[in-house]
Amino acid sequence: MVKIGDVELGEFPLLLAPMEDVSDPPFRALCKKAGCDMMYSEFISVEGLIRDATKSVEKLDIFDYERPIGIQIFGSNMDSMIRATEIVEEANPEVIDINFGCPVKKVVNKMAGAGILQDIPRMVKLTEAVVKATKKPVTVKTRLGWDDNSIFIEEVAERLQDVGIQALSIHGRTRKQMYKGEADWTKIGNIKANPRIKIPIFGNGDINTPEKAALYRDRYGVDGIMIGRAAIGYPWIFREIKHFFKTGEHLPPPTIQERVAAAKEHLEKSVAWKGEKLGILEMRRHYTNYFKGLKGVKAYRAQLVQASKTEMVLDLLSEVEEVYG
Ligand SMILES: Cc1cc2nc3c(=O)[nH]c(=O)nc-3n(C[C@H](O)[C@H](O)[C@H](O)COP(=O)(O)O)c2cc1C
Repeated sequence: MVKIGDVELGEFPLLLAPMEDVSDPPFRALCKKAGCDMMYSEFISVEGLIRDATKSVEKLDIFDYERPIGIQIFGSNMDSMIRATEIVEEANPEVIDINFGCPVKKVVNKMAGAGILQDIPRMVKLTEAVVKATKKPVTVKTRLGWDDNSIFIEEVAERLQDVGIQALSIHGRTRKQMYKGEADWTKIGNIKANPRIKIPIFGNGDINTPEKAALYRDRYGVDGIMIGRAAIGYPWIFREIKHFFKTGEHLPPPTIQERVAAAKEHLEKSVAWKGEKLGILEMRRHYTNYFKGLKGVKAYRAQLVQASKTEMVLDLLSEVEEVYG
């Protein structure tokens, strides 16, 4: 049984990666239904949280059916991190996660996200402060290092464990790589092979098929796998991997009816949670993925991204089902 603190996650958990503008409650509902064992929120700015910025505070929303859930924060100022941790604790997630992996300039320039990989002692200090500021289990998500010349993740894993984190998720790329090249899980495997490491280690990066999940699980010995991009518009990846692990066989892909039902549910939940305008707007990026591979679906996509009322979008989705079903 894999556990983060007292939070039980089953034998080999599949986790939904934190993804800005994606891993919100409407999307998480679909991933949960598809069998995801643990999910993380979008990252939340600690500066936004302590200033009560609406955009940050909204990301604290948790629905009971989502549990166990981790809320992810990012920042670099010690006091802000501590205060934000207290605010997150009040929202009552099972886990608080620190983002030390975000590669975007705006974030790293402030020494937050992956920026901290240039200053490991500070990373350890910030983590220790967050751990001390809460009774919740604290986890960290990070990358291998800043660039090829600074891959210290094996040492980082030990030091973060020593200051009290309860699990570590590692994306097998450096900051410099951004999302290019292929994720390298070798170092992740080395950490798992280190007898000093007792906390769960979750591998992350490029898992997009059941075969690859099984291969990387066996090759690198990780305690679980975190999945990001492959779940966007395809939450079924979780059930497909689970089924393959259990039986060695592939589930048939989702039918058109299932795809349309998922898109509709996603839309309706988005509208309920964000309001009609924003809910419809933020759904637009998802249609391509929900209907990937359908010949000629582009024409519908063009209409879907223009529709401005929920009913119009739902009608169009029903039409997709009729035409392709
Ligand atoms: C659209 C998008 C948004 C992301 N936002 C976050 C984030 O808020 N926090 C974080 O730790 N990582 C974030 N990531 C990185 C993912 O969590 C994950 O580490 C990365 O996509 C690699 O995993 P994958 O190959 O399974 O997608 C984001 C990635 C994408 C594609």
